[in-house]
Amino acid sequence: MKTELTTDAAYAGAIIRRGGLVAFATETVYGLGADAFNEVAVANIFTAKKRPADNPLIAHISRIEQIDSLASAITNAAAKLIDAFFPGPLTVILPKKDTVPAVATAGLNSIGIRMPRLGLTELFLTAAATPVVAPSANLSGRPSPTTWQAVLEDLDGRIDCILQGPPCIIGLESTVVDCTGEVPVLLRKGCITAGELRKIVPDIVADSGSSPLTPKSPGLKHKHYSPRAKVIVVKGSADDPEPNSALIGLTETKGAFEHKLICRNVEEYAHSLFEFYRECDRLGIDTIYCESIDDTADIGAALMDRIERAAKR
Ligand code: TXA
Ligand code: MG
Repeated sequence: MKTELTTDAAYAGAIIRRGGLVAFATETVYGLGADAFNEVAVANIFTAKKRPADNPLIAHISRIEQIDSLASAITNAAAKLIDAFFPGPLTVILPKKDTVPAVATAGLNSIGIRMPRLGLTELFLTAAATPVVAPSANLSGRPSPTTWQAVLEDLDGRIDCILQGPPCIIGLESTVVDCTGEVPVLLRKGCITAGELRKIVPDIVADSGSSPLTPKSPGLKHKHYSPRAKVIVVKGSADDPEPNSALIGLTETKGAFEHKLICRNVEEYAHSLFEFYRECDRLGIDTIYCESIDDTADIGAALMDRIERAAKR
C-alpha cells in the first residue's frame, strides 16, 4: 500500500468516509484514525499498528452531539468534565452504545471519547462526518509520535494517508477518566492534572492499580512509551554516564553524552520526550538518562509517569 501525504483536511476526511486509515495531528500526539462504525476499517488499525486486540480505542469527535451516537448514558461527572475540558486533552470513558462495533472497544462495554483542540483536526473530523476511533499512530510498543515524520517512520506502507500537521504542542497522551461508575477514576495522567479535574469533580479517585490481569485501562499493561534504549531516571545532573548514552532534562551537565537535550521548562521537556527517544534510537544510543523533576504540579506528574513506565520495562 502506498501511504499518501497531504495537508488537505477535507481530502483526508474523505479517505475515512470510504473506509481508509488516516494518521492525523492532535494537541497531544498523532492518532491513527478510522470510521468508528466501519468494523473492517477499525480492525485494520490493529493490523497496521500490530496492536494487541485487547486494547480499546478512543473515539474522536468534532461536535458534542456526536457523544449521543457513541455513549448510552452520560453520567453527571462526565457532563461536568465535558463542559469544562472539551475540546482539550481529556478522554472520558462512558458506557457504550450497542451500535458501536465491539472491535473498537476490544469487547468492553465502555468507550473512551475525546474532542481534540486543534483547528486542523476539527476540519478533518468534520470532513470525516463520523466519530473517528484512533490510538496513537505508532507501531505498538514504540513511543507515541509527536510529528508526522515519526508516523511515517513507523507506518509507511501500512496506512492510506498521513494528514501532515504541526508537531504536537503537548507531546504526551490525553488524561483518561473512567466515568462509567459512581465515582470517576483517573486512569491515565496527562496535561489536565488531577488537581484541575477535582476543581470540577471533587471526588475523582486515582486508579488504585487494579489487578495486572484485568487493568481498567488495558493499554497501561502493554509495553508502552518506551525507546529501544534502556531508560534510567536520575536526580539532578548526571555527570558520569555509561558509554554511548544520551541525556534529557532541565539541568546542564559536564558528562560525556553522545546526545543531549536541556529543556527550558517542564512543558518543553514533556513535548520533547518521545521525539528525543526516537532520535536516540535512530542514533543507536544504548542508555537514555532522564532527569527526574520535582515539580509535579502541572504536566510534571504525567511526564514522570511516562518516564517511570519506560524505566521499569
Ligand atoms: O491523546 C490521546 O489520547 C491520543 C490521541 C491520538 O488522541 N490517543 C491515545 O490512544 O493515546 P492510545 O490508544 O494510544 O491510548 C488509549 C488509552 C489506552 O491505555 C487504552 O487502554 C485506554 O486509553 N482506553 C481506551 N478505551 C478505554 C475504555 N473503554 N476503558 C478503559 N480504558 C480505555
Ligand atoms: Mg498508544
